[in-house]
Amino acid sequence: MARKPLVAGNWKMNKTAAEAVSLINGLKEVASNCGDDVEIVVAPPFTALHSVKTIFDLDRVNMALGAQNMFYETEGAFTGEISPRMLQAEHCRYVILGHSERRQYFGETDEAVNRKAKVVFEHDMTPIVCCGESLETHEAEKTAEWITEQVSAAITGLLPEHAARLVIAYEPIWAIGTGKTATPDMAQEVCELIRTVVTEMFDEDIAATARILYGGSVTELNAHLFFAADDIDGALVGGAALDAQSFGKIIKAACGCG
Ligand code: 13P
Repeated sequence: MARKPLVAGNWKMNKTAAEAVSLINGLKEVASNCGDDVEIVVAPPFTALHSVKTIFDLDRVNMALGAQNMFYETEGAFTGEISPRMLQAEHCRYVILGHSERRQYFGETDEAVNRKAKVVFEHDMTPIVCCGESLETHEAEKTAEWITEQVSAAITGLLPEHAARLVIAYEPIWAIGTGKTATPDMAQEVCELIRTVVTEMFDEDIAATARILYGGSVTELNAHLFFAADDIDGALVGGAALDAQSFGKIIKAACGCG
């Protein structure tokens, strides 16, 4: 498959700057062995971005830096927010947008995700746009409708050249941090649907280059099952990304060397 796998660690609200550096130190070896075959991304909290960037530069670590959120304005009186310029200055390559925790606890809307996605691209970074259904929606068998709507709203109006670089993460909310995963077949079905949505909104070539990740209780034990699916191009990992050994094994599974 032409798409390079991407394995991203979403550290959420975990790790001080010093702890972040020690986790990165534990990942250097796997990054040097697998970093050409798998795009490895870590998204630490804002307070650790600079320390992680510094160690990436000093030790030429073959990983990319991501942020967990961003505001859409470039600067100004927005107390507590972080701008695209600030993330660009830290050499962030990715910005996670619309994570279900941000939607649930901080009121992030589809409109905000869409606006942010455009701004991320304008600043030469790439959004990792998250989507996912609640347990209620899942049990009511409304997942397809929900995902179609959420993804369409998030990517509407993107320039085609930007859409081709998109990363979309399918994270069923009921699988996040619960130890329950979607089955690989279920995850494949939704990721295929996401690719169809991208095809319908843009075209087939664009949909063929966009990368679609699965997230939700991915571990070193189950990662390979998801990576074997045709439309799953990697993983967005929470809990298992906080441990160098576990995350390293997930990276190796995507690389095919472990
Ligand atoms: P877990 O891997 O801890 O389930 O978290 C998934 C997630 O939310 C990644 O963004």
